Amino acid sequence: MSRRSIFLFAALIVMLYFSIILFMLSPLHGAKSAYYGNSYMNHFAYRQLPQVVWCKELKWRSPPSPNVVALVSYPGSGNTWLRYLLQQVTGVVTGSIYMDYGLRVHGFPAENITDGSVLVVKTHEIPPLESDKFKSAIILMRNPRDAILADFNRLHKGHIGTAPKSAFRMKSSEYKKTDWATYVMSQLVVWESLHRMWFTKFQGPIHIVFYEVLVSETRNTLQGILNFLNYTVSETDMDCAMKHKEGIYRRKKKLQDFDPFTPAMYKAIEVSRSRVLNIIKYYQKTHNSNTQ
Ligand SMILES: *[C@@H]1O[C@H](CO)[C@@H](O)[C@H](O)[C@H]1NC(C)=O
Ligand SMILES: *[C@@H]1O[C@H](CO)[C@@H](O)[C@H](O)[C@H]1NC(C)=O
Repeated sequence: MSRRSIFLFAALIVMLYFSIILFMLSPLHGAKSAYYGNSYMNHFAYRQLPQVVWCKELKWRSPPSPNVVALVSYPGSGNTWLRYLLQQVTGVVTGSIYMDYGLRVHGFPAENITDGSVLVVKTHEIPPLESDKFKSAIILMRNPRDAILADFNRLHKGHIGTAPKSAFRMKSSEYKKTDWATYVMSQLVVWESLHRMWFTKFQGPIHIVFYEVLVSETRNTLQGILNFLNYTVSETDMDCAMKHKEGIYRRKKKLQDFDPFTPAMYKAIEVSRSRVLNIIKYYQKTHNSNTQ
């Protein structure tokens, strides 16, 4: 190699390292754009993933459904896992209002597709102003403690990694609270208003799925979602999906020796969570709905 190309190569490496470092330092402030998933960290995390084994070859919904169904969740609440389960059991692709290039090459070819050619459409946003965008909605709700922690991990390490302990102690100035504490409190507001908005502003039918129930009673919960979608699957389809239910997207359990949440955070989380549960109770009472 000539000196010039060695120099260019070295410069490239330095730039790459800088962008990674910048990315790791910025997530607290750049959180919004990171939801769009086109971050380099996600790419790096995905590289190590094995390819997904599908029960059957994925296809588009045909004929397209006139009812577009939103799959709503706060980030870090299992949206990708539920999309994975739905694709396993139906063989139909799921869409998203985002373009996550990492997901697109790892089993979710319908990223950035939001029409009736997909089974459901992932969103982390409040209900859109155009009232006809989504005809109905599945709301996947996880307790805010775990969801906020999972999303914090994702911002630091991509879809399957975990943030280092030091990330929870970072401060932007000596006298302030940790960035993590600021992050928890602001995300709690986002978590609460997302659910509040869907349950109070969205006009179409809503099916609520609690992430914790999806984990403990996967088969029944998935069947409930399919009923809501009016989508019939065979016993064999369901058995196959359950055999592969783990998938490749679940984060390994960690942090057993360390709880990043303070008593004040737990208190705020509990208050916010019970307010949302009350909204849901009220919704169920007034809509006579057969949510699970
Ligand atoms: C997403 O889809 C829209 C509409 O089909 C298209 O205009 C846009 O370029 C797509 N975005 C990406 C990042 O591919
Ligand atoms: C399922 O069928 C019912 C009854 O026909 C209909 O009202 C509802 O909109 C359908 N749901 C979806 C998601 O297509």
